[in-house]
Amino acid sequence: MSKVAFIGLGVMGYPMAGHLARKGHEVCVYNRTSAKAAQWVDEFGGRCASTPREAAQDAELVMSCVGNDDDLRSVVLGEDGALAGMVPGAVLVDHTTASADVARELAVQAAERELGFLDAPVSGGQAGAQNGVLTVMVGGEKPFYDRAEPVIQAYARMVRLMGPAGSGQLTKMVNQICIAGLVQGLAEALHFAQCAGLDGLAAMEVISKGAAQSWQLENRHKTMLAGEFEFGFAVDWMRKDLSILLDEARHNGAQLPVTALVDQFYADIQAMGGNRWDTSSLIARLKPARR
Ligand SMILES: NC(=O)c1ccc[n+]([C@@H]2O[C@H](COP(=O)([O-])OP(=O)(O)OC[C@H]3O[C@@H](n4cnc5c(N)ncnc54)[C@H](OP(=O)(O)O)[C@@H]3O)[C@@H](O)[C@H]2O)c1
Repeated sequence: MSKVAFIGLGVMGYPMAGHLARKGHEVCVYNRTSAKAAQWVDEFGGRCASTPREAAQDAELVMSCVGNDDDLRSVVLGEDGALAGMVPGAVLVDHTTASADVARELAVQAAERELGFLDAPVSGGQAGAQNGVLTVMVGGEKPFYDRAEPVIQAYARMVRLMGPAGSGQLTKMVNQICIAGLVQGLAEALHFAQCAGLDGLAAMEVISKGAAQSWQLENRHKTMLAGEFEFGFAVDWMRKDLSILLDEARHNGAQLPVTALVDQFYADIQAMGGNRWDTSSLIARLKPARR
């Protein structure tokens, strides 16, 4: 069992840290809003700290899961940041979905202090975090990965080292590119079914057994048809991820015409007040035809 710190007890971090405690690791948590850290300790035991630095002291592994690049820098760097508290040889495992650039930057800063760094974004959403079945895509050096992997298994179904620092974030970008085009395709298919006067549920039931099958189709078609968008990853988060990956594509030369278009469609959803709707809300832009 390891001494672990967990920084960022949001929708994802709270249950992930909980799995570590349940597995018997000695966990110290930090959260900017301290009431959430106190609630976590009430539920899972362990300790809470008043700064990331304090949480990281003595920890062999420090996990983080905050919002974006700037949030990550604010909990990792500086006088009260995690790196300042970590002991040489310890490894920082960052589960935030952030840029590959910030991952490379933090890997350098960690190495200067004889610390390890792994970028390890996750896929699987809130349900995956709660059920401990996340997919974890990791970038960094193998010796650090080998130490962190058995601990990450507490909340993962799939963990893989993808390459040097930044490779975890790049793999997560691949994931988000898949999802963007796929959800727009599903939204258009459902919209077409409605415009054609078909029973949308029946149409989805039939095609879900053929080549059009997908996780999004299986799990979201009913709520999309019902116009309910309270089921997971928020549009604001998706636009953050799309902005990161479109920026990466500008640098590596990848052409992402559909992804760029879907990003603009999500901007429309934000303009409709759907910032916190889930990503399947793309269908809300498509008005049923007048018949
Ligand atoms: N939700 C999903 O389905 C999902 C799926 C895959 C990946 N992700 C990614 O996982 C990360 C976390 O997502 P989430 O849904 O858990 O977000 P969330 O519920 O909004 O939680 C964000 C966490 O980060 C903390 N935080 C944010 N900015 C901070 C700052 N400047 N300083 C200190 N702490 C800060 C928040 O603290 P407070 O409590 O004080 O606000 C909170 O603990 C994001 O990068 C997201 O893109 C999310």
